[in-house]
Amino acid sequence: MKLIFEILVVLSVTGSYGQNTCNIYCDGRNPDLSIDTRVILSTELFGRQISLYISDADNMGFAEISNGDPTDLIWLDRSWDGGISWTGKLGEVTIPTGSRSTNTMLYNVDNPADRQIGALRACGQPGNRDVIACTGWARSSVSAGTPVDAAATALMQFYDGTLWPTTGWWNGANCLQAIIDYIKVTGNRNYLYVVDEVFEKNKDLHDGNFTNEYIDDTLWWGLAWVGAYDITGDNKYLEMAKVDSDYSYLYKDDVCGGGLWWKTDRNYKNAIPNELFIKLAASLHNRIPGDTMYLNQAVEVVEWFKMSGMINAENLINDGLTSDCRNNGQVTWSYNQGVILGGLVELAIASGDPDGSYIKLATDITNAVIQSSNLNPNGILYEYGCEGGGGDCGGDGPSFKGIFTRNLGELDRYLPNRPYKSWLEAQAASNWNNNRNSLNQFGVHWSGPFDRANGANQHSAFEAFTAAV
Ligand SMILES: *[C@@H]1O[C@H](CO)[C@@H](O)[C@H](O)[C@H]1NC(C)=O
Repeated sequence: MKLIFEILVVLSVTGSYGQNTCNIYCDGRNPDLSIDTRVILSTELFGRQISLYISDADNMGFAEISNGDPTDLIWLDRSWDGGISWTGKLGEVTIPTGSRSTNTMLYNVDNPADRQIGALRACGQPGNRDVIACTGWARSSVSAGTPVDAAATALMQFYDGTLWPTTGWWNGANCLQAIIDYIKVTGNRNYLYVVDEVFEKNKDLHDGNFTNEYIDDTLWWGLAWVGAYDITGDNKYLEMAKVDSDYSYLYKDDVCGGGLWWKTDRNYKNAIPNELFIKLAASLHNRIPGDTMYLNQAVEVVEWFKMSGMINAENLINDGLTSDCRNNGQVTWSYNQGVILGGLVELAIASGDPDGSYIKLATDITNAVIQSSNLNPNGILYEYGCEGGGGDCGGDGPSFKGIFTRNLGELDRYLPNRPYKSWLEAQAASNWNNNRNSLNQFGVHWSGPFDRANGANQHSAFEAFTAAV
């Protein structure tokens, strides 16, 4: 038994990282057998044409060099992490004497046995020069046949089996939430496995149970576990969401009349943990038969929030309060206009919104965003607090616009005739047309141009596609 086990381990490692990946076919298939290969990308190097061909039917690709000279080299690189790292020189071949072109064999895009979602690029080198050129990364249309599927798959390419290492802890909760929302609205459960994997592999990190010194971080995770409960019915996720909500409520007190602190050091009362808490507690109420405690807590915090001064005269929400409990006038980040919308929808569901005040506040805030030349110039969401002047928005900012969009999507679905759907579709279209690379990765600027890819940028733009479904 032991010997067999060890042989299997060796084989599976080879299958993962070596050149012998098998899916529909194994690596090394002859391209002449493929029925539908098409050029995906080409690049030029000293007159040579280097091209990446993909067969969607085979879910494989090959590289070709043409207009070259004998001894020129051509090969494929394959990446399992969205182009951050790769196995190089797959199938390398040389243009033979008397010829101007050659091509590699076919290699797999994906390795589903190990849940590896891949990308290929073609690279070439003139035989007489120490310089190489590669196409961009691309993949087949498998799991990427529609924009929303392509956006989901590109986010999953950044997933490493535990989390999304190109972005932070709290952003990771939002990457997971983005996948959960995608499963909810499309019904596509290909990536459902990620939910339990993230839960089990991370539940003992930081202060345990997805808590840490940032109350907002804890609440993002709590909301993700509500979503996990919704798509699985598994009570362990609802229990974790309760733990996160209860932990966060310990950091509510009467300073400035009420509300939760941003961190366990009780130094700053700001919008985000309060909006998140309203949404989480109201969501718990809506899922726990007979609950009164969570609803009372949500109502208590929303009533305080409305009077706190953080909602300004334009119906936009500034970042937080000064130490003497006044609106601090800091940036109206898009996510602070967003999470409250989802919270108000959950409260409306809980109460039936008898006087219409929850939905009125939600639509007032939404309309203020849509009319804001800072946040919505030319009809496309813009994080004016960090995107200006070529800013990349650091570690946190890239997630904000997607969070706004997710929550507006929840409001839009709650309202008759989806009044914000066309605005949401415009966000998705702008990302698709102006802010995307050849691997369906998105940058931070929703109006373009594409700057760089990471998990935060990806989940954020992806949420626009999901909200518009
Ligand atoms: C996590 O929550 C459970 C259930 O409330 C509790 O028993 C456990 O002690 C918590 N773990 C940590 C590290 O706080």
